[in-house]
Amino acid sequence: MPQYQAVKGTRDIFPEEAAQWKYVEGIVHNLCALYGFSEIRTPVFEYTELFQRGIGSTTDIVGKEMFSFQPDPKGRSITLRPEMTAGVMRAALQKNLLSSAPVHKLYYISELFRKERPQAGRQRQFSQFGAELLGVSSPLAVAEVITLMMQVFKSLGLHGLKLRINTLGGTDDRLRYREALQAYFEPFHDTLDEASKERLQKNPLRILDSKNPAVQEIVADAPRLYDFLNASAVEEFEKVLFYLAERDIAYEIDYRLVRGLDYYCHTAFEVTSSELGAQDALGGGGRYDGLARELGSSSDVPAAGFAVGMERLLMTMEKQGLFATLTPPGPLVYVIVQQQEFADHGMQIAWRLRKAGIRTEIDLAARSMKAQMREANRIRASYALFIGMTEQMTGLYSLKNLVTSEQTTLSLEAVLEILHEPAAREMLK
Ligand code: HAM
Repeated sequence: MPQYQAVKGTRDIFPEEAAQWKYVEGIVHNLCALYGFSEIRTPVFEYTELFQRGIGSTTDIVGKEMFSFQPDPKGRSITLRPEMTAGVMRAALQKNLLSSAPVHKLYYISELFRKERPQAGRQRQFSQFGAELLGVSSPLAVAEVITLMMQVFKSLGLHGLKLRINTLGGTDDRLRYREALQAYFEPFHDTLDEASKERLQKNPLRILDSKNPAVQEIVADAPRLYDFLNASAVEEFEKVLFYLAERDIAYEIDYRLVRGLDYYCHTAFEVTSSELGAQDALGGGGRYDGLARELGSSSDVPAAGFAVGMERLLMTMEKQGLFATLTPPGPLVYVIVQQQEFADHGMQIAWRLRKAGIRTEIDLAARSMKAQMREANRIRASYALFIGMTEQMTGLYSLKNLVTSEQTTLSLEAVLEILHEPAAREMLK
């Protein structure tokens, strides 16, 4: 066992898997552009208060899962970002983005950090892609971000996902509901587990999220937030549902869905995959109009967004066999040097091929010709180009198609021409 291992909850991504990441990232970049979202990159760490205020101090993320530290004794505490939304809103407010244009559509693919107990689909360093639509309070904005998210899943070929959706109403609705929930749970106080007892005082809505079967049984008869909504909140939710139906997006209303971050209001949603086991949430999001004010803005900034866990997305794709056709392309040509005295000539040829835009590999370790051939096959090169005495003398090269085993002798110009042919380029794929 090597002395150093990757830190628990982190993992390495080797080339074959990196190709899968690049493929998924490519689709995310293209679709976000198609929907008019532009990329934003924010710092990996922020002042700790940003997350305390933004995500909410009674949430699990802020209470237990942040990697926080103090860079200098008198300095302010900073935290590795556990999510992107608070940082994106901070950046937008800091740059006064909304004064330059009333609407901003931003997206990201970013690394995040949460001090959770590592298990399948749950890491301490993980990635999300997500989008945040700032400045529009219409249900259309919510429908827009959900549509984008579902379009990414569809374009990747995923199937069998479940979109659950709920409304959390406005602040007043939630206050009334909070009181009703406390009154409902109070008689069950002694039956509740420790986490729920704590939540009962600080954030009773979070009890609805409990995974404990005994608590779930009590939750089953709890009042529904939906019954505490005022008419405009109901109307807003119905419009979102209408837009989704219009776009053929299947959903299931889940009146108990609350989500683990405090900034949500009105619509909240989550997508799950039965392929994922215990950590089945692939992504989630919702509206968060009050976040800007929490972060010091003098007024609310209507906003909606979502984030999807990249690792879980890739796990689901793997389980559904969606990477089967995605083999990493082998280099097109392997320049094989027959004896070391021709190594310089081989290098010059490799350089000319690369300059002509042809992917080329060449041995750098003075290995035998047999070892070079073995390597060419291992990395799935499509052609071998031999460099030896005859080639050096005549300027004619033996080019072997490693798929058909056909071999021809050609000038370098003819070699370049063949390698530029569509059929040869096709072999790159
Ligand atoms: P979230 O539900 O906390 O939302 O995270 C979104 C997704 O990130 C999860 O559904 C999951 O796939 C992935 N994820 C979360 N924690 C881990 C982990 N420890 N390991 C692996 N994957 C993980 C948010 O973060 C919100 N900022 C979403 C949002 C954007 N709401 C509005 N805009």
